[in-house]
Amino acid sequence: MDMDCDDTLATSGETKTRVGFLQTSPAIGALEKNIRQIEDLLEGQRAELWVLPEFALTGYDFVDVAEARQYAEEAPGGKSTSWLQSLAEKHNATFVMGLPEIFSGRLFNTAVAVGPKGFIGRYRKLHLFDREKELFEPGDEWLQVFDVGGVKIGMMICFDWIFPETARTLALRGAQIICHSANLVLSYCQKAMFARSVENGVFTVTANRIGTETHAGRSLVFTGGSQILTPQGETLAQAGTDTVEAHVVEINPEAALQKNVTPTNHLFHDRRTAFYGLE
Ligand code: ACM
Repeated sequence: MDMDCDDTLATSGETKTRVGFLQTSPAIGALEKNIRQIEDLLEGQRAELWVLPEFALTGYDFVDVAEARQYAEEAPGGKSTSWLQSLAEKHNATFVMGLPEIFSGRLFNTAVAVGPKGFIGRYRKLHLFDREKELFEPGDEWLQVFDVGGVKIGMMICFDWIFPETARTLALRGAQIICHSANLVLSYCQKAMFARSVENGVFTVTANRIGTETHAGRSLVFTGGSQILTPQGETLAQAGTDTVEAHVVEINPEAALQKNVTPTNHLFHDRRTAFYGLE
């Protein structure tokens, strides 16, 4: 499942890499405005890996399939991924971002990873949240890990957090950093991501949005609180609940290769899968 991409997360002899998130407030359908907010937030910032929210350019709560289709793009090949590549070139960084994807007429809630040398990979959300089930098909591709300059990243999207299998699968496949693009509305995800980090020994970067989206008579309030957690569950960065913010921290991704919690307890090897008796 691993994909080798000789791209920019490279630490070239260093052990540290800078990872960041943008917490934004996209307005539904206002792509130019949403792009400008992201570009402004990135000014003067430096990181090798950036995580942006789910549906960061389009807004979230589409009224129906026709509206979702109107904003959906091919990934790779659409305008959003080309724009992300120009951003990646300008900032010499890898970007992960969510977008509505169209593929052979089918709609998916997708996250993409794009670096200066181009498209790295995509993830189609497996666990759709609430009304998303009316608009999108659940993902039909494997959870993959992408090697970005020697560091393995995995992607998950928002509500995937409540299915521990998502992060576990990525971690078992070798992900050191889980890039979690989100439009969170339930209040407890940020706390739950502590467990996803600790039980898998991985860094997690949750990039959430803020604001109230009122569209076609419905209103959703997004919870902000974007965060970066270590494999031990320490909070390295935490955004406010209602502020547009960029945060960058320096991490050593190799810390996520160490899966022993005591000298005799290993997160993966100590699992008793023969006795779980379940798929
Ligand atoms: C969500 O999965 N966007 C709540």
